[in-house]
Amino acid sequence: MTTKPTNTCPPPMTTLMPRQFVAPLAQHTPRHWLPGNPVVSAILNAYTVLVPANENFYIRTLKACMPRVHEANTRWMIVNFVHQEAQHGVGHRQHWSVLDAQGYRFRRFEKWVDVLTFKTVERIVPLHIRLSAVSCIEHINAYLGYEFLQQNILETADPSVRALFEWHFAEEIEHKHVTYDVLRELAGGYLVRLLGALLAAPIFYLLMTIGTLKFLRQDGLLLKAATWRQFGSHLWRANHMALRTLRHLWNYLRPGFHQNQLDDRALARHVIERYSTTPSIWLQPTARGQQQARPAVSGANRGRDAA
Ligand SMILES: [Fe+2]
Ligand SMILES: [Fe+2]
Repeated sequence: MTTKPTNTCPPPMTTLMPRQFVAPLAQHTPRHWLPGNPVVSAILNAYTVLVPANENFYIRTLKACMPRVHEANTRWMIVNFVHQEAQHGVGHRQHWSVLDAQGYRFRRFEKWVDVLTFKTVERIVPLHIRLSAVSCIEHINAYLGYEFLQQNILETADPSVRALFEWHFAEEIEHKHVTYDVLRELAGGYLVRLLGALLAAPIFYLLMTIGTLKFLRQDGLLLKAATWRQFGSHLWRANHMALRTLRHLWNYLRPGFHQNQLDDRALARHVIERYSTTPSIWLQPTARGQQQARPAVSGANRGRDAA
């Protein structure tokens, strides 16, 4: 942290493509858009409600760290990470209008969460611990993505809602290492990683639980035995999410951990390709993404083009 940061970002060694979600989300989508599974529908509805404030928090945190980051590739990764996260917020806000049309009430909960958690944490928690908290939530986002995609949990879901979540999960896998790499560059100590995880993981799962139960209560399903059997199926018998979650969290706390130790990039690539090609071109590069996709023009060609 003794040298000055550069103001420009040279081309990255590896690249992240910012894309926008352009699938038509239908207002008449059924409430239980994963047919026969109100529990997973409610879990991901809670996720959708939390995403925009959550991701704005990541973006503010990473932008606050930017002046201290000197490694050119890391700076470039942060820029594209911010663009991807911003697009996730836009995509999930579109899903909010579907939830409105379905008659759900969630906006007061969303405001309460933003003010009482993200904005409060931002006021009282030092930047390096906030960065560590974001790194832990990004790990959670990535392993949720891995589990939902690898187990094909959304296979029978409404196609456009499925695309929204699978696109988001795939990009969480693509950029899963970014915040962790920034954390290692700025505050690499194990204790900081541990404190961030102890702050982030309980808050994340508490908010997800409250949100999920609120959706199920509005469905009138909260006290039904079948609902709790379905929770059992998601957490233990079918999707094994309880044990898998503990394993992923435990893995994050290993001293030698790095996200790239789990190579699930092919899984993410496959999903991005599926939604970027016919018949459902539901993902498009943003203006920044299009710039990155364009082949670099050599000095000689640049001269010829200009002539
Ligand atoms: Fe995201
Ligand atoms: Fe992310």
